[in-house]
Amino acid sequence: MGAVKAPEIDLSVVDRIIERRGTTADKVIPILQDMQASYGYLPFPALQYLAEKTDITPSQIYGVVTFYAQFRMTPMGKHIIRVCHGTACHVQGAVRVSQAVSDFLGVKDGETTEDGLFTLETVACLGCCSLAPVMMIDSTAYGQLTQAKVRKILTQYLEREKAE
Ligand code: FES
Repeated sequence: MGAVKAPEIDLSVVDRIIERRGTTADKVIPILQDMQASYGYLPFPALQYLAEKTDITPSQIYGVVTFYAQFRMTPMGKHIIRVCHGTACHVQGAVRVSQAVSDFLGVKDGETTEDGLFTLETVACLGCCSLAPVMMIDSTAYGQLTQAKVRKILTQYLEREKAE
């Protein structure tokens, strides 16, 4: 998988948000929420720029970003893989499913592959427990998974990507 080229970050997005929200430390959460809504994640240069342009210190910013699970500093992949670790799936081997995805793609929970194609996430019950263990890729659910089945499904996605 090839390396990703760092995308250009449009810092005027931050200017517009602080114009609307203000520049004081008590606004840090809504500012970061708006930034994430615009960029899809919180790019490092945009966070640096925020610290330069406001009264909010870098340690206040990183404190909030690392404390709240809603914030992410890496972009989401093109495909989001959600592996269910709810009770039924856990009993049926969800850990092995996650392991198979991790091994196949070389990412841990919450990470995105270097080529930007896949993000792996662990989630609670996906609502189709009778198919446990289950994972969803984007809006498609895959059930009764084994490690071999996981590898087969991911291979199909990769082949489709190559064909595009
Ligand atoms: S516990 Fe996994 S779908 Fe319900």
